[in-house]
Amino acid sequence: MERVLSAADTVAIVGAGTMGTGVAQVAATAGHWTLIYDTRPGAAKKSVEDIRAGLERQLFRGKITDRELEKLLSRLHPVELIEEFGDARLVFEAIVEDLGVKQSLFKKLESVCGENTLLTTNTSSLSITAIASALSRPANLVGMHFFNPAPIMKLVEVVSGVETSREAAEAVYETAVMWGKNPVHARSTPGFIVNRVARPFYAEALRLLEEGAADVPTLDAVMRDCGGFRMGPFELMDLIGNDVNYAVTCSVFSAFHMDPRFLPSLIQKELVDGGLLGRKTGRGFYDYSASTEKIRPSSAGPGTPPTAILAEGELGIMEALIPLWEEAGIQVTRKAGEEAAFILGDVRIALTDGRTATRRAADSGNSNTLLFDLALDYRQATRIALTPAAGASEGALQAAIGLFEAAGKEVSVITDAPGMSVMRTVCMLANEGADAVLYRVCDAAAVDIAMQQGVNYPLGPLAWADRIGPGRVLKVLENLQHAYGLDRYRPSLLLRRIVESGQCFLGRSG
Ligand SMILES: NC(=O)c1ccc[n+]([C@@H]2O[C@H](COP(=O)([O-])OP(=O)(O)OC[C@H]3O[C@@H](n4cnc5c(N)ncnc54)[C@H](O)[C@@H]3O)[C@@H](O)[C@H]2O)c1
Repeated sequence: MERVLSAADTVAIVGAGTMGTGVAQVAATAGHWTLIYDTRPGAAKKSVEDIRAGLERQLFRGKITDRELEKLLSRLHPVELIEEFGDARLVFEAIVEDLGVKQSLFKKLESVCGENTLLTTNTSSLSITAIASALSRPANLVGMHFFNPAPIMKLVEVVSGVETSREAAEAVYETAVMWGKNPVHARSTPGFIVNRVARPFYAEALRLLEEGAADVPTLDAVMRDCGGFRMGPFELMDLIGNDVNYAVTCSVFSAFHMDPRFLPSLIQKELVDGGLLGRKTGRGFYDYSASTEKIRPSSAGPGTPPTAILAEGELGIMEALIPLWEEAGIQVTRKAGEEAAFILGDVRIALTDGRTATRRAADSGNSNTLLFDLALDYRQATRIALTPAAGASEGALQAAIGLFEAAGKEVSVITDAPGMSVMRTVCMLANEGADAVLYRVCDAAAVDIAMQQGVNYPLGPLAWADRIGPGRVLKVLENLQHAYGLDRYRPSLLLRRIVESGQCFLGRSG
């Protein structure tokens, strides 16, 4: 039975809201005769008008021709009755996120459509297996999870429930490829890939804020300017809407039977309860009213630049800092040593390993210990977060600030939080990705594709773990677990296996 779609096949869209409209445009662009249905009177027609308005903007900018615009629009057809879906080879559902409503829609579709019609749902949080349980042909139901805006975002999670046939999932995957998307296969589990693996990006930032590690603009700036993320977690939560972001966290937390890894944040709940939902209400973590002055991230004043430093041990990813210091006229002398660190007289400056600076000072017997955060790329980073041990002198802090300023970085001094900001977030993202692979949600490559294409991460979390070293990621998580005494930071069994076998995440089958 040949089920892969061709451009000549009809595609039908149910639900002419944000996602249905976006996917209708994608299907029509790929050449399909595209039917659109919505229970709300006039919604399907409005959907076509919205697509026309968007295309006219593209026409104005010279991105498409008149002919292309008219051709594309001629393929879009609002319909009054769902019975008109009889010829569709693929139905894409993007209606309200409600199990009962989706089940009764699909039951109706089964009676209208042919046996070989692919039934796809854009659900973000419902189980494909649960939706399919109401159907007489559950093998034909596949999750086709697009990201907003659908015409632009490349990722599609192709989600299989217990009864989804391999053939149907493959056909949907190939259809997404034909539509110019970058699909990944996923098993129907809470949050699928993106909404699960992304949780620590918000959760660790919220935790750091709750603990008073730094203020919102500083934590955002560190994740952007040091971690290389396009947006900081707080500006992103304000953009998504705190209500939406909090609801996703609560849904994943409850679906995982209250696993502490997904514990929702009280700070975010307070904003939601107070109607401070983010950009859409003018106030969230930030105040968007025109009269309010933007609060800048905190940057340390000029420190004391050194003339010479000792670089001890194997520097690995930190090696990129050495030429920056040499270009700034600082003499760098190498020294063998067990632990990588930069030494200025009696001051020891090292990359965070998940212990607090104060713990590390106690372990090494040197109170003048300071730690810095992970950077995506130490050459490109424009900011470095730094934290002093409780007993470090003001002179030691100024020397460490001066050292990073000499490399052209702004320095944000944060309080002594275990694992700092970028390091603990990236390790937790990699840990969640590892667990998704361990529990057969998807393979390792899919984790990274999903996070890069679905939420624009600068590097996939598993490739990032490979780059900084799976052993280091494991150590950071073990130290975090010890520092907090919380199960939340427990390392994934897959991460342990990778470390014990000397492998890395990518380049293995997953
Ligand atoms: N908005 C997003 O960013 C996003 C991203 C990924 C997935 N999703 C999922 O996509 C689905 C749709 O989300 P949306 O944001 O496009 O919603 P939306 O509210 O913009 O649109 C939903 C549309 O469905 C129509 N509708 C409701 N019940 C219907 C029914 N029984 N039959 C036909 N039409 C019906 C409504 O009239 C409305 O026009 C949801 O399952 C959501 O979880 C949304």
